[in-house]
Amino acid sequence: MNVLVIGSGAREHALCRSLSLDPDVTALHCAPGNAGIADVAELHQVDALDGDAVAALATELDAGLVVVGPEAPLVAGVADAVREAGIPCFGPSTEAAQLEGSKAFAKDVMAEAGVPTARSYVCTTPAEVDEALDAFGAPYVVKDDGLAAGKGVVVTPDLEQARAHANSCERVVIEEYLDGPEVSLFAITDGETVLPLQPAQDFKRALDGDEGPNTGGMGAYSPLPWADPKLVDEVLQTVLQPTVDEMRRRGTPFSGLLYAGLAITSRGVRVIEFNARFGDPETQVVLARLKTPLAGVLLAAAGGTLSDLEPLRWSDDAAVTVVVASHNYPGTPRTGDPITGLDEVAAQDAPHAYVLHAGTKRDGDAIVSAGGRVLSVTASGANLAEARERAYAAVGRIGLDGSHHRTDIAAKAAAGSHASS
Ligand code: AMP
Ligand code: GLY
Repeated sequence: MNVLVIGSGAREHALCRSLSLDPDVTALHCAPGNAGIADVAELHQVDALDGDAVAALATELDAGLVVVGPEAPLVAGVADAVREAGIPCFGPSTEAAQLEGSKAFAKDVMAEAGVPTARSYVCTTPAEVDEALDAFGAPYVVKDDGLAAGKGVVVTPDLEQARAHANSCERVVIEEYLDGPEVSLFAITDGETVLPLQPAQDFKRALDGDEGPNTGGMGAYSPLPWADPKLVDEVLQTVLQPTVDEMRRRGTPFSGLLYAGLAITSRGVRVIEFNARFGDPETQVVLARLKTPLAGVLLAAAGGTLSDLEPLRWSDDAAVTVVVASHNYPGTPRTGDPITGLDEVAAQDAPHAYVLHAGTKRDGDAIVSAGGRVLSVTASGANLAEARERAYAAVGRIGLDGSHHRTDIAAKAAAGSHASS
């Protein structure tokens, strides 16, 4: 089967890496891709937001499966266009992607499905904003209603900052603060059957100790040794299956990857957000542990035959990924800086540790930074401590002027306590 992956991040590099190891994948293509993905897939130029262009490329490549990585093309209807061209596509329709595209829509679905989440108000005027902030009190949680690449959320004890962010958004969701560690749980679904993957934890803040601004994610690990072994089953029963059932009931079935961002509060599990695609960087660690060949699983989701699939097989190894970000990320990042040490990692750290590229591109003989999150160093080990050691050893070989990364990814979990993030 020929497979085409749409996207250009470390998530897409992780997807391509897994697909390239799948014996059923005869040819692997990626558009637009990046300098690292070029090692495992043939790259093509395409406007990833243009459904007709993506469908035409998939037809030309005789693709038997298209996998859409990021949220923006899904919200723009790229998966619909590919399916209309008669090609199986892993990723939700534009309507179903509203679970991520609009926080207010997601709240409505959760209310209808009885899914536990933070209480919230949707506000469009300064008066409504003040009323909502007052109702919940500090710390304040203020979310831009639309897509914001993980950066539209402000959590702050400062009323003026909360008010300023809220009034800078056209439509804003203000909600109750959820205390407790966060978990990302992904599920693959064909709109009916729901197959949860292994849970992971993401580190959203830019700096060590969960300080600094929110980012798209600075690192992740899996498994979560501190989590209740019944967590996945509980979330399947109380969150994932009811949400998928409610989307189907509405006539807009959700197929693809349903990502539940959860808070484990003292009063139980609560949904922080849904995403309509694989998370980045959690995908890097989840796929590092998946032993079942990936293409067949994604194709079964696209084709509505997930219930026929054998249970997924997982490695007992732990995995850790550390994101190396550009100078000034999550603000406007500096780009064009040469990246060194990639060959050393390949020579000295493989196969346990490897680099997944995000914002990189080739410039003559050099590979240079081309985005905020530049790359994601992923490592496996017998436990989190070993995976951490290997990941950071490889990070130490990477040179990128002005870059920064967190030094505490999975540190608390490796030491036996639960990390909050
Ligand atoms: P989101 O884009 O909705 O995932 O929010 C980004 C981050 O903001 C989350 O990962 C949490 O760390 C934080 N956050 C969002 N909603 C809440 C909440 N209700 N209570 C506490 N923290 C939150
Ligand atoms: N890791 C957060 C996200 O993918 O949205």
